[in-house]
Amino acid sequence: MAQQPLIELNDGNTIPQIGLGVWRLEDADAPSVIAEAIAAGYRHIDTAQAYGNEAGVGRAVREAAVPREELFITSKERTSHQGYDSTMRSLDESLERMGLDYLDLFLIHWPVAMHGRFVDTWRAFIDLQKQGRVRSIGVSNFLPEHIEQLAEETGVLPAVNQLELHPYYQQRDVRDFHERHHVAIQSYSPLGSGAVLADAEIAGIAAEHGKSIAQVIIRWHLQQGLIVLPKSVTPSRIRENIDVFDFDLNLDDVTRIDALDSPDGKTLPEPAVMDTLF
Ligand code: A2P
Repeated sequence: MAQQPLIELNDGNTIPQIGLGVWRLEDADAPSVIAEAIAAGYRHIDTAQAYGNEAGVGRAVREAAVPREELFITSKERTSHQGYDSTMRSLDESLERMGLDYLDLFLIHWPVAMHGRFVDTWRAFIDLQKQGRVRSIGVSNFLPEHIEQLAEETGVLPAVNQLELHPYYQQRDVRDFHERHHVAIQSYSPLGSGAVLADAEIAGIAAEHGKSIAQVIIRWHLQQGLIVLPKSVTPSRIRENIDVFDFDLNLDDVTRIDALDSPDGKTLPEPAVMDTLF
């Protein structure tokens, strides 16, 4: 069984460093796939209102072989639900769909800053945390300027910011900002939405360690202190992606992967221009 490190957040709560990303996992498949993930050692599941599988994730949690308190469950609010009152309602609806009493982490999915509602949304998140219906609160796809605005207008920093981050898009300046402000980063698309899996340099490192390319990439995230959310709907890959605690990347390996950073490495939409209310 995998022994996963826990990361301490700025609100004192802890989070397992590997989480299962479930974007594109069908609601009907979620219970069996998540049961397999839990059996493989995952204790952290990352869903969103927009993924359409909160009900299946909730069912998996309620039927899990481990107690609710041992699992860390995240959801994210749809951009169309932003605003104070609509956020209070949307968290109620998420908990109802999932059949759960609380979330471990609730995130604002995208800032959609041009719609001007993320600060009011954040005020609702702060109240939801005070009420105990969410243990930790955070954001996703926020630029440093958006986080600064939250801090200035509410005095409360997010516990995490979930960002696209992988060897082809390493976001070093952004990471420095988060480190200074004690905001943990969760890497989404940690395999570059699959693009980094064909990398020849990482293939060489993987061969030296007798591990797969995906395992080397996940190990790189872990050794950078990032919370990592590999996404797979395939049970064998789900198991493979957490079987990363029997080797270490050495300094030379990490330097070789660090050198793969690229200005064109981003694979998913830019937070500054993403304006869709979904
Ligand atoms: P699938 O879900 O069909 O198993 P990312 O986490 O960067 O978004 O990448 C997700 C993509 O990478 C998905 O297409 C997923 O496929 C694939 N993937 C996830 N883990 C592995 C793995 N261990 N080996 C090969 N492909 C993987």
